[in-house]
Amino acid sequence: MSKNFYITTPIYYPSGKPHMGHAYSSIIADIFARFKRLEGYNVLFLTGTDEHGQKIQKEALKNNKSPREFCDEISETFRSLTKILNLTNDDFIRTTEPRHFNSVKEIWNRLIKSGDIYLDKYSGWYSVSDEAYYDESEIEDKNGKKISKISGSLVEWVEEESFFFKLSAFQKRLLDYYDKKQDFIHPKSRKNEVVSFVKKGLKDLSISRTSFSWGIPVPDNKKHVIYVWLDALTNYLSALNFPDLNDNKYKSFWPADVHIIGKDILRFHAVYWPAFLLAANLPLPKKIFGHGWILSDEKKMSKSLGNILDPIEIIKNYGIDQLRYYLIKEVSLGNDGSISLENLNNCINNDLANNYGNLCQRVFSFIKKNCNNKIPKASNFKEEDKKLINNIKENVPKLIDLINNQNLNEYIKIVVDFSFEANKYFNDSEPWTLKKKDQERMNTILNTIVEQIKNISILLNPIIPISSEKVLGSINISKKDITIENINKNILDNNKELKNLDILFKKVENDN
Ligand code: MSP
Repeated sequence: MSKNFYITTPIYYPSGKPHMGHAYSSIIADIFARFKRLEGYNVLFLTGTDEHGQKIQKEALKNNKSPREFCDEISETFRSLTKILNLTNDDFIRTTEPRHFNSVKEIWNRLIKSGDIYLDKYSGWYSVSDEAYYDESEIEDKNGKKISKISGSLVEWVEEESFFFKLSAFQKRLLDYYDKKQDFIHPKSRKNEVVSFVKKGLKDLSISRTSFSWGIPVPDNKKHVIYVWLDALTNYLSALNFPDLNDNKYKSFWPADVHIIGKDILRFHAVYWPAFLLAANLPLPKKIFGHGWILSDEKKMSKSLGNILDPIEIIKNYGIDQLRYYLIKEVSLGNDGSISLENLNNCINNDLANNYGNLCQRVFSFIKKNCNNKIPKASNFKEEDKKLINNIKENVPKLIDLINNQNLNEYIKIVVDFSFEANKYFNDSEPWTLKKKDQERMNTILNTIVEQIKNISILLNPIIPISSEKVLGSINISKKDITIENINKNILDNNKELKNLDILFKKVENDN
């Protein structure tokens, strides 16, 4: 069995500073990447920036910069966001890099070779902000302006010579593929959207532009630049040193295991991308996961609505683990979800500070006070101890399954329940009453509870890595021992003293 796993985020437009939607896509992908590593997979996790096209050229001009200069600057802010979000991406690709040019040119040449490209003229609607073509039926009038019904963004009429991709020829093959690979588009609701879109009929797709120059030139026709979505999607191959099909990275990681994307870019990933790959005679990614939107006050966060929660600001005030945890706990992954500072506060206080944080803190300080600061050895486990410990161990296959199905919400709910259960066990078994009466029993209880803390911390590691590593570090478990396999192993060290654990999660006031 191959133990490789390739996961990607969308590559972001460096048209403005990163916002919560970007942070969300990246955090989700990072959690899966981290989990698969804990499971022993050799993971390649890719993110980056999508730098060509009219949108970026326009934005650069507005800022009195050359597109290159503008992209260099903003791409850097996305790169630094990967650090701020504590992402474990193995690579950061920019579509302005030579490695990407080579791979896009190869894709173009393959589509030419397969006879799927022809030259014609495009006349129709185009949204620069979405970098998308829209049909008459997808457009509406709003205050005298034409906008896309789908995204609400402004569209303009475009008439220019263009190369076309014979997308219409792929309708049946795509539908067959969706049918055959039931797992290709997730969640199910998104799959249904895609299937009904394709069933309505596919038109050929304009894949080059002539009215601006910021893009990858069409091979052998310098008047045209390649449509930014054909360019951007190919990044997933460029990072694997495509077109060298003998390259180890390509051989190990293509096809990708999952492309994590937002629902607004589903059409590009679940229709155009597989069609391009079919035409290029390359394998298709195994899964496209379309997450919902992060809303603020029930509306999509946007600059114009002024309802943006800045991830960097929040991380500064609350901490990165807190934000990661909150986004995953509060927002149902496949659907839209509202976030607010009030809910963030409640989540930090209830789940992190009062539950997991409190559990670790009180158990460790009890051990420090009563057991020479060393994890006591267990002697006779009672039924209730075994039940507690086995509950986690027996649930591991189910938890792995939930992650493989991108069901992060259920995963986190189960892990939080383990933590409630452990707190309850600690309260109910009252080890503080046993110090004089029955030290052996007290030791067994403490050993049991530390085993629980170890396992809960391993399971929380992909979500709140910093805090989890602090807790595991206090019980002398090093990073390399944080693995799913170790949930089932007795790796507690009874001889070493516990390291001091500072307050994990500060409680926050509810009125800010
Ligand atoms: N450049 C393209 C992607 C190319 S991938 C080959 C793009 N970039 S983007 O910067 O506009 O958006 C990137 C991701 O951020 C998308 O997955 C999008 O869904 C996500 N989000 C942007 N705003 C969002 C929210 N308010 N909520 C959640 N995610 C949203 O599209």
